[in-house]
Amino acid sequence: MNIDIKVYQQVTSTNTVLKEMAQNGACDGTVVVAWSQTEGRGRLGRTFASPVGGVYLSMLLPLDESMTLTAKAAVAVKRAILEVTDKRTSIKWVNDIYLDGKKVCGILAEALNNHVVLGIGVNFSTRINDLPQDVRKIATSIYNGPENEESDSMDLVNSIVKNLADLVDCKDDMWLGEYKSSSLLLGKEVNIIQADKVVGTGTVTEIDNNCALHIMNSGVETTLTTGEVSIRERK
Ligand code: BTN
Repeated sequence: MNIDIKVYQQVTSTNTVLKEMAQNGACDGTVVVAWSQTEGRGRLGRTFASPVGGVYLSMLLPLDESMTLTAKAAVAVKRAILEVTDKRTSIKWVNDIYLDGKKVCGILAEALNNHVVLGIGVNFSTRINDLPQDVRKIATSIYNGPENEESDSMDLVNSIVKNLADLVDCKDDMWLGEYKSSSLLLGKEVNIIQADKVVGTGTVTEIDNNCALHIMNSGVETTLTTGEVSIRERK
């Protein structure tokens, strides 16, 4: 895959910009990077706060039917954060990256004809106070503000893109072991969330080779291939 990285100061959403480029003939491997977004989008129709200090990027990739592309992307981001910042992160199924118990990166995949626009937002040197109040409770940043930056945001972009391109091309399943062993959820009590409501609970027993989450409650197993869970606070 030929990698072509285009960098902007600010865009509406790197996913939106890249979709337009794809419709105008951009090839797989095209990457749009922005240092802030005015209309950042998250999963499940949510907004994604995108102040200055974050790294926001989207990469055009061939459509992957296997459902594992976003899980591969989580592994790529985890590897890149370790390489560039020395910080060890965890993966919260399906594809959120956590640092010290809080979310530091979100991933949004949107299909477009025979392509996927894979969007990644990392709180890199985001001032925590620049995040909306409700987000501050659950999110963190690698460095709190540019004055505390100990590595270069463009190094992170390059490392994410390289790791992602390698994983998309790789034919073996080595990454899967890394995905499973990085999981924040194995063995944890979780709530199953649908439309912002708790619709079930249970203990996470397994992440299988299709990256589906297995949750057990009183001998009954629920298998989730997509969706959302939250860790249950112990009372
Ligand atoms: C989530 O956590 O719900 C997913 C967040 C995905 C955010 C990234 S930032 C780059 C790309 N552009 C967007 O508008 N969204 C994705």
